[in-house]
Amino acid sequence: MWRLPLGAGHWAGLDVLDPTERERHARFLRAADRDRYQAAHLGVRLLLGHYLGVPPAELRFSRRCRHCGAGHGKPTVAHPATKLDFSLTHSGDWVALAVAAAPVGLDVQEIGDSTDLAILSATVLAPAELRWWREQPPARARRAFFRYWARKEALLKATGYGLAVPMNAITVSPPDEPARLLDWSAHRSLDGPVQLYDLDTGPDYTGAVAVLSSLPVRITQAPLPLGAVRSALSGG
Ligand SMILES: CC(C)(COP(=O)(O)OP(=O)(O)OC[C@H]1O[C@@H](n2cnc3c(N)ncnc32)[C@H](O)[C@@H]1OP(=O)(O)O)[C@@H](O)C(=O)NCCC(=O)NCCS
Ligand SMILES: [Zn+2]
Repeated sequence: MWRLPLGAGHWAGLDVLDPTERERHARFLRAADRDRYQAAHLGVRLLLGHYLGVPPAELRFSRRCRHCGAGHGKPTVAHPATKLDFSLTHSGDWVALAVAAAPVGLDVQEIGDSTDLAILSATVLAPAELRWWREQPPARARRAFFRYWARKEALLKATGYGLAVPMNAITVSPPDEPARLLDWSAHRSLDGPVQLYDLDTGPDYTGAVAVLSSLPVRITQAPLPLGAVRSALSGG
């Protein structure tokens, strides 16, 4: 899992987005959103280009939704042919990318204090989770809620279902226990065994990664050495 540096300066001079990505980048009204988009999508192209040995501008992506077929689904590499999967997340100061040799989903959530959790809780939490969560002291409840949320979104992103599967149809382990999927009562197939891990994202964020594989998984988490990747790409 790579954390990508934010700020236009890091990415200056990289002209590798395709026309659709350029158009989306230009459409953001707020500079912070533009910066997050730029870091995410240039980061994906640079890193996958590096892993797959192709110039970043030559990568092509598909975003076909597995639920309804429209173009808003999980982005996957359409060219070159590869089994590598990736997952992107952007939240607050965090833009990160997970790359794995199996379906992967990554989610980082900013623990904001503006969200009204009492209203959201029944949409996000399954009945057993809701009972556990309501017993937590207020000082712990907020972080615990976003821990649940990140774990579930990581699963929804690994499977590619996105919000087509209701979050409250999924039950994961309580946030003070190691991350584990307990129940997937959603009426949709799971593509394989699920491994779920919490990430270390500091006090203001929660993060989780899901991998759909029975093979042993080792998670490495690091800031992207952008200078080294850029220099390798330019033959330096
Ligand atoms: C999947 C989703 C819920 C994640 O949102 P989020 O936690 O707010 O945002 P994050 O920054 O963590 O993740 C967004 C990234 O996830 C990826 N993504 C989008 N849809 C995805 C899906 N179905 N599965 C996996 N990844 C997905 C994209 O890379 C996206 O970033 P990009 O648009 O810049 O490429 C969100 O992308 C979304 O709202 N999707 C459409 C709604 C939906 O799924 N509707 C049902 C359609 S039938
Ligand atoms: Zn859809």
